[in-house]
Amino acid sequence: MSSPATTQVFDIRKLFYLLTIDTAAEFNFGESTGFLYTHGSHTASTVIGSPAGFAEAFNTSEEFLLRRGLAQRFYWTINPSKFRDANAKVQEVVNHYVHLALQPKHASKAQQVGHGHRQWRYVFLEALVSGTDDPKLIRDNLLNVLLAGRDTTASLLSSVFYFLARNMWVWEKLRREVTGNEITHARVKHLTYLRYVLNETLRLLPPVPVNFRQALKDTFLPAGGGQTRNAAIYIEKGDIVGYNVYAMHRRTDIWGADVHTFRPERWAENPPRALEFLPFNGEQYALVEASYTTIRLLQKFDTLETVEVDQFAEPRLQPNLVLAHRDGVHVRLYSSTKAARERVA
Ligand code: HEM
Repeated sequence: MSSPATTQVFDIRKLFYLLTIDTAAEFNFGESTGFLYTHGSHTASTVIGSPAGFAEAFNTSEEFLLRRGLAQRFYWTINPSKFRDANAKVQEVVNHYVHLALQPKHASKAQQVGHGHRQWRYVFLEALVSGTDDPKLIRDNLLNVLLAGRDTTASLLSSVFYFLARNMWVWEKLRREVTGNEITHARVKHLTYLRYVLNETLRLLPPVPVNFRQALKDTFLPAGGGQTRNAAIYIEKGDIVGYNVYAMHRRTDIWGADVHTFRPERWAENPPRALEFLPFNGEQYALVEASYTTIRLLQKFDTLETVEVDQFAEPRLQPNLVLAHRDGVHVRLYSSTKAARERVA
């Protein structure tokens, strides 16, 4: 990631969205989209076109998918040309990789994965190609994981820096934990305070704030019904039960009176019980990616500042498939020694 020029204010959220599309592409296709490097260059274009073109098409598709999801069985009534064009653009890009992978020389590489030979890294597309040669099935699976991994991790990272920029003592404490030591994959798991910071961020701003389950058979919820809310609730086979993770994570009976305060230390004092904290179902990859990005930025820059006047106002959020900061996360992130040197020069 190119470092911002000294003390300039910039929207770090935008960079995180480019970073996670690059890393998701690397994981899925075996090749980064390279958007972070071409960012800021109006003429640059990568193997799959301009960063703006693909990212915008992806965002447009997502917006309509949310509306269609809300319309439930009437989803098909929402199908304007803007949505169809955006889908076509996204599919064109993914097809490019699918066709490459289905070519004979790539397929033999993929079969090696299928036969258990050791590859130097895991590429989702190659694993898929070893199991099927149906281009549509492969494309749909790739899109599923691209969608699942991109916005969620960008949302988490944006929120981490949103909170860090407003809580300097947390930033300083984290810097003490991660600077001065070489950070290996194994060590990341032992950085306790970093894990508390990620958990506290996922608690207050869970990237997937609402979720649902559909009953496979007649059943009941043990509590929540009747006047006292302690009676069981009958659920019929096929019923859809929504649950609001955002609201659950802000219950004072679980988290205490300071539930709305960003305070990573609470994780050392009183870790939640099962089902009280549900940001996702164990995405290790996402936690390592978010940890590593945060660590590298902490190691490279010693100062993070927000330019918001009311620093402690609740963030303005955008309803989308994944929770997003509506107005971006505008910060200054710089090395104070480098800035001082430039002031003297
Ligand atoms: C902070 C980052 C992330 C968050 C908060 C998150 C959250 C979630 C949630 C809430 C679900 C639904 C689980 C359920 O209903 O049982 C989900 C599903 C999933 N996630 Fe993540 N996720 C993150 C990152 C990732 C990444 C990086 C990947 C892939 C590399 C990924 C792949 C998936 C997949 C494949 C599914 C299942 C989708 C399906 O049902 O077809 N996620 N994630």
